[in-house]
Amino acid sequence: MAEKVKNRNLQTAKSSKKDEFYTQLSDIEKELRHYKAHFKDKVVYCNCDDPRVSNFFHYFSYNFEKLGLKKLITTCYKNQNMNLFSSNDSEQAIYLEYNGDKSGNNVPDPEEIGIRPLEGDGDFRSQESIELLKQADIVVTNPPFSLFREYVAQLVEHDKKFLIIGNVNAITYKEIFKLIKEDRLWLGPSIRSGDREFGVPDDYPLNAAGYRVDGKGKKYIRVKGVRWFTNLDYRERHEDLILYKPYNQAEYPRYDNYDAVEVSKTKDIPADYEGAMGVPITFLDKYNPGQFQILGITDRDNNSGLKTKEYTEDDVPNSGDLNRRGVIKIGNEYRSTYARLLIKRRSP
Ligand SMILES: C[S@@+](CC[C@H](N)C(=O)[O-])C[C@H]1O[C@@H](n2cnc3c(N)ncnc32)[C@H](O)[C@@H]1O
Repeated sequence: MAEKVKNRNLQTAKSSKKDEFYTQLSDIEKELRHYKAHFKDKVVYCNCDDPRVSNFFHYFSYNFEKLGLKKLITTCYKNQNMNLFSSNDSEQAIYLEYNGDKSGNNVPDPEEIGIRPLEGDGDFRSQESIELLKQADIVVTNPPFSLFREYVAQLVEHDKKFLIIGNVNAITYKEIFKLIKEDRLWLGPSIRSGDREFGVPDDYPLNAAGYRVDGKGKKYIRVKGVRWFTNLDYRERHEDLILYKPYNQAEYPRYDNYDAVEVSKTKDIPADYEGAMGVPITFLDKYNPGQFQILGITDRDNNSGLKTKEYTEDDVPNSGDLNRRGVIKIGNEYRSTYARLLIKRRSP
């Protein structure tokens, strides 16, 4: 029993360590330039951000006038020390409200930034944080990935606009996929592939792959599969993906268990196919809701109505694995594909 508790604590410590990734200013700038018009007269809330170190706070306080913001609110989780990075070692948190430049120098001076203590630890789910959330129009941050589902659910419950960083695999989470399918959440334009570098705390394990220390001793790690998730609209997501390949049966095999054909690369989506197609989840990087409709995901059926069969152990060995995905049958062999989005072209 004690061992179990110890393991659980270790697990929690591990996942909270994984949550300590700090977004670089250049990545924030590259994404935010697509949404300028959305921010005029708005209250922005960064609710997983130590204002003394967060580049989200930095970006919005220095661009407060340029964006025409009404107010910037930032809350910090637990830590109160002036260390470079949060280590969550104090239970009492702080929050901050910035109402723009008063001295006329266009820079947020310390006396213009009101830092105040919170009663609790600054957890985004706490009542105090929720009261601040209610004041906000747009929430922008990189939240703890281990709480991503809960984090998004809270934003949706309070009907907030948001722009947040997450991992591409979150697309397959039941709750997140539902929002994507309903066109209530989509991916931002600035990160489409590759990896991104994030700041990490000083005590981050040195054996991690993609690890770097800069000239000032600050530590960074490269993270794969990063994406922006948002419900703020931007121009590029209404541009059609140019398709050039014609459909043919040999190149686009039909799934054995879904009424759809397999398209293993987004760029190969056939231009002339009217039925349902299974495409990689990274199709969302190119998704224009005016061009395609999302019907479901093969990871779980999601009521797409396209699943045609369930395998049993009597028919096929490892049927459990096969039932999770789209399956291509070649002769007597069953080949399971990766999670696929099931899509269909909208009529021109
Ligand atoms: C991925 S880091 C990003 C930090 C900062 N937003 C940035 O982008 O640089 C997630 C942050 O959320 C904080 N955090 C963890 N659990 C939290 C919670 N329950 N409520 C609010 N913040 C939390 C962590 O301390 C961590 O600093």
